[in-house]
Amino acid sequence: MGNVILIGFMGCGKTTVGLRLSYRLRQPVIDTDKEIEKEEKRTISDIFATDGEGYFRDRETDCLKKLIESANNQIISVGGGLPMREENRKLLRELGQVFYLRAKGETIYERLKDDTTRPLLQGNDPLTKIRTLLEERDPYYRAAADVVITVDGKSFQQILDEIEENVT
Ligand code: S3P
Repeated sequence: MGNVILIGFMGCGKTTVGLRLSYRLRQPVIDTDKEIEKEEKRTISDIFATDGEGYFRDRETDCLKKLIESANNQIISVGGGLPMREENRKLLRELGQVFYLRAKGETIYERLKDDTTRPLLQGNDPLTKIRTLLEERDPYYRAAADVVITVDGKSFQQILDEIEENVT
């Protein structure tokens, strides 16, 4: 197996699925948001507030380039906005097999309605923001993905089984 990459909207379960998959496949897991926070020694919210989204997006591209040099047989979950850049989609393909965890807006809203760590969803109408962003992003996630896994209403067990069946 090469690297297994998890993409999808905020709250679709990438981090949890990544951890559980890492346990099942006995391979280490890496999360691009966490790598960036470690390197920058501050949270994503701080990075957005101080240096803006553009700065953060450049750090995501840097992070992918580093992973291409270093990651082997790893599970990699990436930030929800990362596949929006064409360059990043190319890098993702180079990095490994890409799984898109596809979730409905309502599922995401239920999971993230009380979250304070996602700067893009801190406005006063997060459900509309989720729906709009999701509609805009879905085609890019599909374009970046080798496999699409619908997660609504499924248990982690089912999601992990589906991923494992498709890992090449
Ligand atoms: C973002 C998703 C977040 C994080 C940042 C921006 C996005 O990651 O990278 O808040 O643009 O969708 P998660 O998808 O892990 O929440």
